Amino acid sequence: MNVYDSEQIEKLLAPSRYKINSSFEVADLIIINTCAIREKAEQKVFSFLGRLADIKRRRPNLIIGVGGCVAQQEGKKILKRMPHVDLVFGTHAIYRLPYLIEKIETERCSLIDVEMSEVIEELESVIESSLDRTDPKVTSFVTIMRGCDNFCTYCVVPYVRGRETSRFPESIVNEVKCLVKSGVQEVTLLGQNVNSYGKKENLNSFPQLLGRVNEIDGLFRIRFTTSHPKDLSDDLISAFKNMDKLCNHIHLPVQSGANRILKRMNRKYTRELYLEKIDKLRNNCLDIAVTSDIIVGFPGETRADFEETLDLIKEVEFDGIFAFKYSDRPNAPAARFTNKITEQEKKDRLQILLNFQEYFTTKKNRALVGSNELVLVEGLSKKRVDKDDAQSKCQYVQWTGRTEANKVVNFIQSEGVIPGDRISKGKIVNVKIEKACSHSLSGKPVQVEISALKGEQSYAA
Ligand code: 5AD
Ligand code: SF4
Repeated sequence: MNVYDSEQIEKLLAPSRYKINSSFEVADLIIINTCAIREKAEQKVFSFLGRLADIKRRRPNLIIGVGGCVAQQEGKKILKRMPHVDLVFGTHAIYRLPYLIEKIETERCSLIDVEMSEVIEELESVIESSLDRTDPKVTSFVTIMRGCDNFCTYCVVPYVRGRETSRFPESIVNEVKCLVKSGVQEVTLLGQNVNSYGKKENLNSFPQLLGRVNEIDGLFRIRFTTSHPKDLSDDLISAFKNMDKLCNHIHLPVQSGANRILKRMNRKYTRELYLEKIDKLRNNCLDIAVTSDIIVGFPGETRADFEETLDLIKEVEFDGIFAFKYSDRPNAPAARFTNKITEQEKKDRLQILLNFQEYFTTKKNRALVGSNELVLVEGLSKKRVDKDDAQSKCQYVQWTGRTEANKVVNFIQSEGVIPGDRISKGKIVNVKIEKACSHSLSGKPVQVEISALKGEQSYAA
């Protein structure tokens, strides 16, 4: 969501005199979009801001703005702690940014805007295709709703992003169409709980919205995140079968495998219900990839509770997980819970859990060796690979992209049977998977699709 918000900031500032620059050493304006989900992310913000103090001393006209969840949470405390900051703007103030910057430029003052409004303004004036990007995007996030009403006891989101609000379907569809026009082939629809999309406002349901996005010509793939297990409906489960552009991957955060902990987390589902939903998903779409989020060391989590989580991992066999040590967040009720787990115990549990999951991630990846996968090329991978060919040792650049199930695939263009120059960012390449590493796959390109329509068998000669 922060990536999407940062892109919105870029679009909002496109008509201004500020242009994107990759170096903050020379920038006239630095905007830091912050995350407050765990304490570590918040600490990073303050250590980065500390580093900027020196630059501001050398160039006093530099404007430094702090936005996002830490800004919302800390407000004026940021200015107190970091007096070289000029602007603190909260999660609902993004669309007022051009005005706020202009005010600072003319009045040379510092400003705080952490006002939360019921309706968040929309950015429709600057569309993706009008941005002069040197490196056009192939995949993009699109926020469909903001905020959250779920109040999981560990989570800061409802306090820093406010109540759940859905965007109008027309506005979402328009945004996706604009993105497609600019070359985007895959969109990820974002919300804290996409399954409650439109319910409060009586708009389209989420599966209906998916249906509308599915009809957009030129779009190749649709993903979404995140779906709350308690609200995962049969209609959405059926969408994996019925909608040709919807990818066979679901991120379904379970957080814990122990009912006692799920209850203390206020997740409103049981382990049994979660497993039932996984069964339904797999019965409906055989090869669906399932990933999840897990928190270890939630207050009061016993060794037996933790083992129930390991047991759930074994039962589900996730394709991958993101696991986190529980972190106290201001305002979140769990911060006041007793029976806190020590830092060392959380660290140990996290390590055990990650090692345990590694086996299943590798197992799932290995099962793909020998198969052909359609890979949407996202660009060149940063890593170069050494290869011994008949004459000499060479270094090759690698392309990287993702399969429909969201697995990263790397491949070397010169190894393919097709001329190398036909592969480029945004192409859909049929890759024969040859090797499974723990977090990625590698293979040999066999064909380049020229049609962006899934399932159409038209290939370059
Ligand atoms: N501590 C640790 N992890 C957290 N998450 C959210 N809040 C916390 C917290 N206080 C994790 C959850 C969520 C993911 C985005 O971050 O697993 O799904
Ligand atoms: Fe946080 Fe729970 Fe809302 Fe997700 S559903 S954003 S974990 S409160």
